[in-house]
Amino acid sequence: KIKAVIFDLDGVIVDTAKYHYLAWKSLADQLGIPFSERENENLKGISRMDSLNFILSLGDVQYMSQDDKMKLAISKNLHYLELITDLNREDILPGTLEWIQECKDNNIKIALGSASKNARRILESLDLIDQFDVIIDGTNTTKTKPDPQVFELAAKGLGVKASESVVIEDAYKGLEAAKNGGFYSIGIGDPEILNIADINLRSLSDADMNILEKL
Ligand code: BG6
Ligand code: MG
Repeated sequence: KIKAVIFDLDGVIVDTAKYHYLAWKSLADQLGIPFSERENENLKGISRMDSLNFILSLGDVQYMSQDDKMKLAISKNLHYLELITDLNREDILPGTLEWIQECKDNNIKIALGSASKNARRILESLDLIDQFDVIIDGTNTTKTKPDPQVFELAAKGLGVKASESVVIEDAYKGLEAAKNGGFYSIGIGDPEILNIADINLRSLSDADMNILEKL
């Protein structure tokens, strides 16, 4: 029986995935590194530094000092924060509020499991921060998806087992993390890309919680 739902943030609760892409794209352009939306799929769910390292590898950059990498990561983040300054409740993705409400109505606990260090700020902009029983984000973790640490910490905080929890993710690596930790999963997005999810939906608005009976 499902006792908890663990939500990813970017691309599940709010459409910030596109702003992450725009900010990385402009950095890649500056560096003269070709970077497309298809390559961006690899960045979904991974940390800021891992994302930068991935882009540098696309540009065959052999070496860059930690200091210079840090500067690039900071500049990407400042650009990203600029892009999301006006983020508000209208940016919550369709179906999300209904799912949160249904969890509450059915006594199912909810947690956030995100790689982002901006997660709390974003939840505040969306006025959702008080809805979560537990929030685990990029400031609480030492390992990144596909390692299950972020979801394990969330389950531990909620006092539930992985096998009693379902993770909702838009990233392949996030779904791998769920699988690696023994969690059920729902993939939000292209079912061909997210083919390891237990359930695939284009959007949370395409189903209500009854779909969990399929698990
Ligand atoms: C994840 C996103 O949620 O957070 C990634 O899918 C992003 O694209 C990662 O790189 C880290 O985010 P932030 O906000 O700490 O740079
Ligand atoms: Mg995501």
